[in-house]
Amino acid sequence: MSKKFKESFEKTKIAGSIASGALDEVSKIIKPGISTDQIDKICYEFINDHKAYSAPLFYRGFPKSCCTSANHVVCHGIPSDKILKEGDIVNVDVTAFKEGWHGDTSRMFKVGEISIKAEKLINATYESMMKAISIIKDGVHLGDIGSTIQTHVESQGFSVVQDFCGHGIGQTFHKEPNVLHYGEKGTGDKISSGMIFTIEPMINMGNYQTKTLNDGWTAVTKDKSLSAQFEHTIGVTKDGCEIFTLSNTKN
Ligand code: MF3
Ligand code: CO
Ligand code: CO
Repeated sequence: MSKKFKESFEKTKIAGSIASGALDEVSKIIKPGISTDQIDKICYEFINDHKAYSAPLFYRGFPKSCCTSANHVVCHGIPSDKILKEGDIVNVDVTAFKEGWHGDTSRMFKVGEISIKAEKLINATYESMMKAISIIKDGVHLGDIGSTIQTHVESQGFSVVQDFCGHGIGQTFHKEPNVLHYGEKGTGDKISSGMIFTIEPMINMGNYQTKTLNDGWTAVTKDKSLSAQFEHTIGVTKDGCEIFTLSNTKN
């Protein structure tokens, strides 16, 4: 691997492990009765303690350090004094900026006991992301990634959100290419070694359509059905890929 790629992979891994470390901290405090602002505070402090910046904070006017998207919120939920209750599912999305590079990751958290159907949605979403990651290597088409996710999710009766996508990432938070989570095999640009991007499927229990609330950020399912999302930042290699945002505890 060239010297340039080596540096970008190393730096993204450092930023990515801070972001996933923040989520590991969140996992320790998630329970019925906490507010999404408390989650935001944990993320802000963890990232700060690691001498990094939270990329979402003030990004295009976003007011907080992470996104907290509960139940029918698809993505970009704004932390607030909203209290999480037994049975809720919530995505927490964190992006750390360290020494000029970004690491972007999100996970679903269960608040107390959740329903079996919510559990199934979360599992299908995670599996679709990991299946897509497993096919990535130099020369794969972007459409192969989308198709892998869409096929898995639809086989379980769920739908893929089309209004948001994964993205190239590096010294810039969001850059080319757009990584769609649906599509046809063999279509779209080919990815190549050294590319760094996110895979972050948003999967709805009902219809795929979304709308954005008046706060200008919060995206929700149009039919109010539950939605789930996971996100990893990955780097493409000759015969596979490196995941930069694995959990520091579990993996
Ligand atoms: N982390 C989100 C992503 O995966 C972006 C959040 S932008 C914000 O791309 F402003 F809403 F925080
Ligand atoms: Co992202
Ligand atoms: Co993100």
